[in-house]
Amino acid sequence: MKIIRVKDYDEMSQKACELVSDQILKQKDSVLGLATGSTPEGMYEGLIEKTSNKEISFKDVRTFNLDEYIGLSEEDPNSYHYFMEENFFKRIDISPDHTHLPKGKATDLQAECQRYEDLIESVGGIDLQILGLGTNGHIAFNEPGSSFKSPTAVVDLAQETLDANARFFDSVEEVPTQAITMGIASIMKAGKIILLVSGESKAEALKQTINGEVTEDVPSSVLKNHSNVTIIADEAALSLVE
Ligand code: GLP
Repeated sequence: MKIIRVKDYDEMSQKACELVSDQILKQKDSVLGLATGSTPEGMYEGLIEKTSNKEISFKDVRTFNLDEYIGLSEEDPNSYHYFMEENFFKRIDISPDHTHLPKGKATDLQAECQRYEDLIESVGGIDLQILGLGTNGHIAFNEPGSSFKSPTAVVDLAQETLDANARFFDSVEEVPTQAITMGIASIMKAGKIILLVSGESKAEALKQTINGEVTEDVPSSVLKNHSNVTIIADEAALSLVE
């Protein structure tokens, strides 16, 4: 794993923006794996700016998001569909039929998982996957204990995740308790992976990712088994790493 140490959130976002831009400039029809959450917001802002300045274009890019809450419609402000539309897709030149997220209101959720997995395969897989890190070491919504062999699946969210994500909802009771997530195995198929980590609240999880053993108890530790992972982390997030 390559670790890029940066000063703070802004520097992390800028570096991530540069690496994604380089990927698109090298391969204009790249397939990107995208994440939601507070962590990648600054990176998205940077990419929007580069698109406005005509430095890059998403015209031929395809995107696949990691996850979506079950039960939230695409118009729900707390859905990841809504987050991506507002924070990124509607502000860049990407074609709407090139952006994909799992459908959290699909009537047949098992079929939806398979459809999503097949769709990724059908475009040749993900070239570059962006990941955030949960405070409990989750990647996407793969919680501690998830099998490293897991494909896209319906999962139960851990209480720590419900608590962490409650800040976006009126109360913790309103956070959906299940999600569809790309599995660990799906994520590990990506050609390249960038893990973004910022802030003290992620320090313990990042320490376990980098210094700990590879174990299903810490989902992010699986990244040690991938041949092309770059971690961009700020000083606060790296504060416990040896
Ligand atoms: C969420 C998402 C993850 C995200 C992580 C960290 O629950 N499912 O994909 O990376 O938790 O979120 P944040 O960046 O807001 O700290």
